[in-house]
Amino acid sequence: MHVVESMAHLSKVDLYRALREQLAALFVGERNGLANAANMSALLYDALPDLNWAGFYFLQGRELVLGPFQGKVACVRIALGRGVCGAAAERRETVIVPDVSAFPGHIACDVASRSEIVVPLIHHGQLKGVLDLDSSQLNRFDLDDSRGLKAAADLLLDSSDLSYLAG
Ligand code: SME
Repeated sequence: MHVVESMAHLSKVDLYRALREQLAALFVGERNGLANAANMSALLYDALPDLNWAGFYFLQGRELVLGPFQGKVACVRIALGRGVCGAAAERRETVIVPDVSAFPGHIACDVASRSEIVVPLIHHGQLKGVLDLDSSQLNRFDLDDSRGLKAAADLLLDSSDLSYLAG
């Protein structure tokens, strides 16, 4: 059994370092992409303060399809280029939205969401999907979150077989 230690006392940079260590421990000996993404969404939701949604969308054709997540029920399919998720996927870069009401085309799954960060999952140059985090606080996410989540996403991509989720 994995014991997730409290990380509430850590600075943001140290928190992401500790998260990477815990993710690496979770992924040892396990390459199932569904299981690893599910555990990662649970760990992020549990460890990062002030989130109301954390999870994955995986690319199938020209659409992002809902994957493992924690939070309220979410929309299932998002076309490339639509919403924050579709924008991050199409641009292949992390998008930080300090105020979702100011982002044209934002897709509101939970009306409580006020800010959002979406990190594209890119493995060996191929777009696999996105990691999406929402917060009920305005301006919740910054560059430290962007770097920390990118490193966590890269760990998932290197450790997991996502071929039956994305393609
Ligand atoms: N807000 C996202 C949709 C996904 S939910 O936040 C879970 C978007 O605009 O793409």
